Amino acid sequence: MDGPSGSGKSSTSRGVASKLGLRYLDTGAQFRAMTWWMLQHGVDVDDAAAVAAHADDPVLVSGTDPAAPTITVDGTDVAGPIRSTEVTSAVSAVSTVPAVRGRLLREQRAIIGDGGIVVEGRDIGTVVAPDAAVKVYLTADPEARAVRRTAEMSAGTDITATQQDLLRRDRIDSGRATAPLAMADGAHHIDTTPFTLDEVVDQVVALVEEASAAS
Ligand code: DC
Repeated sequence: MDGPSGSGKSSTSRGVASKLGLRYLDTGAQFRAMTWWMLQHGVDVDDAAAVAAHADDPVLVSGTDPAAPTITVDGTDVAGPIRSTEVTSAVSAVSTVPAVRGRLLREQRAIIGDGGIVVEGRDIGTVVAPDAAVKVYLTADPEARAVRRTAEMSAGTDITATQQDLLRRDRIDSGRATAPLAMADGAHHIDTTPFTLDEVVDQVVALVEEASAAS
C-alpha cells in the first residue's frame, strides 16, 4: 500500500489486515523512528554523510499486530514522539539517505518473510515487495489529506501548516533519487477523497479476495 501522507494508507492498511487476519507493517514509522534517534543524538539531519554514518546504530523493533502496532528504538517506545512536528519536518531528509533506506529495506523484507502482511509506505510496490499479490496506490485531495493528518498529529497542530508540510514532503518524497514515491506497475489506484474509511477497506479487501481466487 503506497501513497502520499494523509491519503488514508495507515487506517486502510490496518483495517484490511484486521479483516483478513494479516500482519501489518508501517514503514513510515520506521523512517520516523530513525529520524527521532538522529534528532535525539544531535545528528544534523541535513548532513547526509552524518546520517549515513549512524544508519546502523539504532535498534528498531516493529510490532505487526494491526490492532496495536508498536515501535521501539533501543528499547524505548517511540510511538508518540515519532508523530511530533520536529520528527515530521525532518523525516523526508533522513529518508533520502541511501544507507538508511538500505538498512530498512533489509529489515522490511525480513519482517515480510513469506507474506501474509499488509505493508504501507512509499516504495513498497516498486522496491520493497515488487512481487506483492496485490498492490494499491492511494491518493486524496490535498485538503482532505491535511484534515486527516492534523487529526493524527499531536494536539494543537495547525491545519494550514500541515498542508504546506505535506506538499513539501510530497516534493521531496517524489523527487528523491533512491526509491521515490511512485505508483508501481500493476497497482490499483484508489482516490479515497469521496469514500469513507470502511468503503476503501472494502474495496481493498475485494481486490485481495479477487487475487486469491485467481491464484
Ligand atoms: O507515512 P509517513 O508520513 O509516516 O512517512 C514518513 C516519511 O517517511 C515520509 O515523508 C517519507 C518516508 N517514507 C519513505 O521514504 N519510504 C517509505 N516506504 C515510507 C515512508
